[in-house]
Parts: sequence; structure tokens; C-alpha cells
Amino acid sequence: MKKVGVLLSGRGSNLVALIDAARRGELGGEIAVVVSNVEDAPGLERARQAGIPAVFRDHRGKAREAFDAEIVEILRAHHVDLVCLAGFMRLVSPVFLRAFPGCIVNIHPSLLPAFPGKDAQRQALEHGVKLSGATVHLVDEGLDSGPIVAQEAVSVLSSDTGESLAARILEVEHRLYPRTVRLLLDGRCRVDGRRVIVEGA
Ligand code: GRF
Repeated sequence: MKKVGVLLSGRGSNLVALIDAARRGELGGEIAVVVSNVEDAPGLERARQAGIPAVFRDHRGKAREAFDAEIVEILRAHHVDLVCLAGFMRLVSPVFLRAFPGCIVNIHPSLLPAFPGKDAQRQALEHGVKLSGATVHLVDEGLDSGPIVAQEAVSVLSSDTGESLAARILEVEHRLYPRTVRLLLDGRCRVDGRRVIVEGA
């Protein structure tokens, strides 16, 4: 059984979507550990409730590489094959990237490369785009900049607020992330430069 490690800093609704998919046997693996840099992140509690080891590691006062080395150690101790960032509010250093080459993914609430960074849904609304959505991408050193594995569009409505748009994108995230993790765990993705070629797609 392939093992997934999830890193988060907050609510953890994507974590729950991954846990639910794993329980249904639809993830192609199991969640082995959840790690957060925020002690009271609700996502840690959600992991504990699901019986998954949940670990807090403080990043404050540490060099990025030192913090990342601690995270890598935890993930390795749990024999993690794939690392899923799910609302993890930290950039990852080369220490982390080298430990899991091509095996760290992130979900972002916009159609990248549009609107990277924080408040992507509000950025989209304020820019006036008519389509936004969700992106799952491989992680590199940049901000939401790695090769794109999967995307799904969401229409922006005239009546939308940042909150209503975020809620509709989140529904898509909860479908898209487990489905994409399964493709990766099943070994159905190949990276060719910036392109991720998905077998059969
Ligand atoms: C999601 O919108 C995700 O796309 C972004 O951070 C948010 C995390 O939400 N990277 P949750 O903690 O999974 O509920």
C-alpha cells in the first residue's frame, strides 16, 4: 500500500477529502501521517479523529532548511511515498525537494499560472476573470509554480463574492485532489519539462 504524507497549516478540508477517498479505496494508498507547522491547526485534530498520526513542528526561529529537514525525517519515518501539501503556508527548500524528487504536490484555488499566492479566489474576482478553478501541481522552489498535473475550471458569476467563489472552487478541489493523487500513486504521470503527461488522458 502506497503511503501519503499530508502537510497543512489550517482547516484541513482537503485532508478530509483525501481521508474519505482513502477509506473508500479510491486514493490508491493510505494517509500515513499529517504534519503541521501550526499547533492549533484544525486539520491536525481532523487527522487525530481519523486515527492518523498528527505531528506539530514549529518553524519559528529555524532556518528554512533546518525546519524542512525535520519534516523530511518525520515523513521518512512513516515511509511516505508522496507528499501532499494541503493549505501548507510555507515554501519548500531544496532540502525537501531533493528528499522527495517529483513526489511533492500542491493544490491551489485558481487556474495557475494565474493568481498564485494568497487569496487566489479574491485575486480572480478583483481581476474580473470569468473562469477560475483549481490546480494540482508538482512542487518546485517557486510560489505555486511547478508543472501542472490537473486543473478544473469554475465559472465566476456576477453575483460572486470572494467567499461564494471560494466555496464553489473548494467543492472542485475536494474531487480533483484525491483523483489526481490516485493518478500519481498509480504511476500514471510522466514529467516532460514543464508538461505532465497523464497516461490515457
Ligand atoms: C485550499 O483552498 C487550497 O487550495 C489552498 O489552501 C486551502 C486549504 O484549505 N492551498 P483546507 O485547509 O484544505 O480546507
